[in-house]
Amino acid sequence: MPIFIRHYDDQFGSDARATARSGDGDALVDRVYAHLSPIYDLVFGPVLQSGRIAAVARLALEPGHHVLEVGAGTGLNAALYPTSCRVTAIDRSAPMLEKARARIGRRGYRHIRLFEMDAASLTFPDDSFDRVYAPYLVSVVTDPVAVLREMARVCRPGGRIVIVNHFRSANPILSRLERAASPLTVHLGFKADLDLSPVLARAGLKPLSIEKVNYPRLWSLVTCLKN
Ligand SMILES: C[S@@+](CC[C@H](N)C(=O)[O-])C[C@H]1O[C@@H](n2cnc3c(N)ncnc32)[C@H](O)[C@@H]1O
Repeated sequence: MPIFIRHYDDQFGSDARATARSGDGDALVDRVYAHLSPIYDLVFGPVLQSGRIAAVARLALEPGHHVLEVGAGTGLNAALYPTSCRVTAIDRSAPMLEKARARIGRRGYRHIRLFEMDAASLTFPDDSFDRVYAPYLVSVVTDPVAVLREMARVCRPGGRIVIVNHFRSANPILSRLERAASPLTVHLGFKADLDLSPVLARAGLKPLSIEKVNYPRLWSLVTCLKN
């Protein structure tokens, strides 16, 4: 199977619609990641890798599983998937996907395919994937609830939805700092003060487990089951 990036309507036919949003939030995200793409791996690679490893373990992958990775960025998770699985990975940033394409090409991964797509309007049919995984995405997107609803929609009943992300701390001092820092961190590509519980509740997701990951343990690994 060739390794490729292509626009999703090539693959999913006439039902697929170009749904990229053009709001200010998305434009800011696009600008930030276009600038970050050359240095992303250096800044956010090794420092967040133990969280990625723990998250892929929570996917509990079995041979033949089809995984959707949402917000794949430069492809830092690519090496973590067994070649016995199929992985469809999407991101809305062309410069980030270009890095992912190069990485996947260099390593010769034929089980991973990449699409440029918006996470808030996935063009896959309902119940398409065994596992849906969002690494360090949810606090980046302009509409986290819409993205989580889309992730749940495309996951098959009984499938797993795994999220690794920084959320607002329960510690009141840290929480205040995060709130104060958030207007600045958006320029680094994420909001520092997103509340986990209301976002999950509004998306209709109930966590099976929530674990702390990375060092310091400021990131949450959330595993949900689709009923
Ligand atoms: C912090 S990076 C995470 C990259 C990678 N998952 C990792 O483990 O490092 C966030 C990624 O989400 C992407 N992104 C932001 N908003 C998006 C959206 N609405 N749809 C798809 N991708 C989006 C960005 O382009 C960026 O590549």
